[in-house]
Amino acid sequence: METASWLEEIQAALQAASSWGEVEAIRVAWLGRRGRITEALRGLGRLPAEERRSRGQALNALRQAAEAAISSRLEALKAEAELAALARERLDMSWPGVVPRVGRLHPVTRVRQLVEDVFLRMGFSMVGGPEVESLWYNFEALNMPENHPARDMQDSFFVNVPGMVLRTQTSPMQIRAMEAAQGRLPVRIIATGRVYRRDDDATHVPMFTQMEALVIDREIGMADLKGTLLLLGRALFGPETQIRLRPSYFPFTEPSAEVDVTCANCHGSGCRVCKETGWLEILGAGMVHPTVLRNGGYDPDQVSGFAFGLGLERVAMIRYRFDDLRLLYQNDWRFLQQFGRGEDGW
Ligand code: DAH
Repeated sequence: METASWLEEIQAALQAASSWGEVEAIRVAWLGRRGRITEALRGLGRLPAEERRSRGQALNALRQAAEAAISSRLEALKAEAELAALARERLDMSWPGVVPRVGRLHPVTRVRQLVEDVFLRMGFSMVGGPEVESLWYNFEALNMPENHPARDMQDSFFVNVPGMVLRTQTSPMQIRAMEAAQGRLPVRIIATGRVYRRDDDATHVPMFTQMEALVIDREIGMADLKGTLLLLGRALFGPETQIRLRPSYFPFTEPSAEVDVTCANCHGSGCRVCKETGWLEILGAGMVHPTVLRNGGYDPDQVSGFAFGLGLERVAMIRYRFDDLRLLYQNDWRFLQQFGRGEDGW
């Protein structure tokens, strides 16, 4: 009987179909509005009554069998697709993980935070000021008039606004802090920030970071300065550290000193790092010059003060033991990732 061979035909087509689209095409061809089974069912009415009944039953059975075959083929295709996806997307849990590159604090940032911590605990306030600074604040108010030879030590970057420079030191913050305090006592500030000089070699870069400290009060003396510097030296380079003040000259301090700490490498016995001297110079300091006090609105007969300025890159070089300061600004991950993990204060 013809319906049996139709079913075989449908089954063979379904077996050959490999996608949902192909199965759908088969369904339309047989069961759609113009499908062969549909048309045959429609033609029943033209048959003599005795044939109509058995033919109708056969066609209906065929339709049901075709529908069942179609949906089971669709099920099978879906299962195949799922298996294929599982194989394709299999997770191999034994693969090594992706380790993200975690950022680190820059060595200069670590040193800055360390120093700021020390001074905040001693009751200093932190102040900040402009990097494009006037000649008045950067030089003149600090007792460095035009043509003063000390200006040569701080070869400046000028900007195209007359009377302005990129600040060569954080010392102008001394004047700005005194002005802000408006004669009140004590003045006890630190100011950390970038400074700029036309310098470029293994121990100098055109942009570096200084920290300035200024204390003004009644009866401030060299002993206060020395005590503060000893604390700083020990916080930076360890509790055994000693300091030494050597007479020096800065226009804005009188007397002035250059300050050394015992070499963090050999603890004073002499090595390559300290050129066999046992000491490393780390900062400039002194008692605030009367002219500077006056320029800040204070009376040098009533008050006195000390100040110092520290280069943080140099501190980082000593603390973390590397010998080319330019490494700090080349952004080489291999260098930078060695520091700032926060262990042992590194
Ligand atoms: N401003 C000086 C410099 O950049 C460093 C300095 C020396 C700062 C002595 C001070 C100081 O406050 O008293 O070379």
